[in-house]
Amino acid sequence: MSFLDLAAERFSVRSFSDREVEQEKIDLILKAAQLAPTAVNYQPQRIYVLKSEAAMNKINRLCRCIYGAPMVFLICSDERRTWKSQTERGYSTGEMDCSIVCTHMMLEAWEQGLGSVWVRLFDVNAVAKAFDIPEYIKPICLLPVGYASNDCVPYAPGMTCIGPSRTLRRNCK
Ligand SMILES: Cc1cc2nc3c(=O)[nH]c(=O)nc-3n(C[C@H](O)[C@H](O)[C@H](O)COP(=O)(O)O)c2cc1C
Repeated sequence: MSFLDLAAERFSVRSFSDREVEQEKIDLILKAAQLAPTAVNYQPQRIYVLKSEAAMNKINRLCRCIYGAPMVFLICSDERRTWKSQTERGYSTGEMDCSIVCTHMMLEAWEQGLGSVWVRLFDVNAVAKAFDIPEYIKPICLLPVGYASNDCVPYAPGMTCIGPSRTLRRNCK
């Protein structure tokens, strides 16, 4: 598939089947993350792979946008390694770097026949605490990944996208 076809075809999946994601596919998605360009190629991304029952219970409790995915990538920036501006006090490229990383991962997931959805609706501090993440590692976004359920369709105006209960199914016919 050409890049433009893939980019046009991909959509955010918010309704997943129970099927587990194969380790080879997880590895390919992580490879895509590693190949992403980052400022000065510092590669500050730190990616937690959440798929144990305990980890999934925790993230489902903390975020209502997991949508029944069987696994989640938690993409973080190691602030000790990000590029820091000499002229703009306090500015680092961590969030920008991780956004490129997450984009690579999302597109590679689609290439592997997997759906995903970029998620920022969560409390960074609560997630860091729950997963014992040190203060210099900053959670940037979540990427729930899995096989789309059979009735999953792209979001259209009028459908529920973000709701109060994580048990609600999204993107469903
Ligand atoms: C930075 C960012 C944050 C997002 N946060 C959420 C989120 O918290 N929950 C959610 O369901 N979708 C989230 N999305 C997905 C967007 O709603 C979605 O990508 C957008 O509506 C375009 O739809 P598409 O991905 O189907 O093309 C986010 C996307 C981006 C890029």
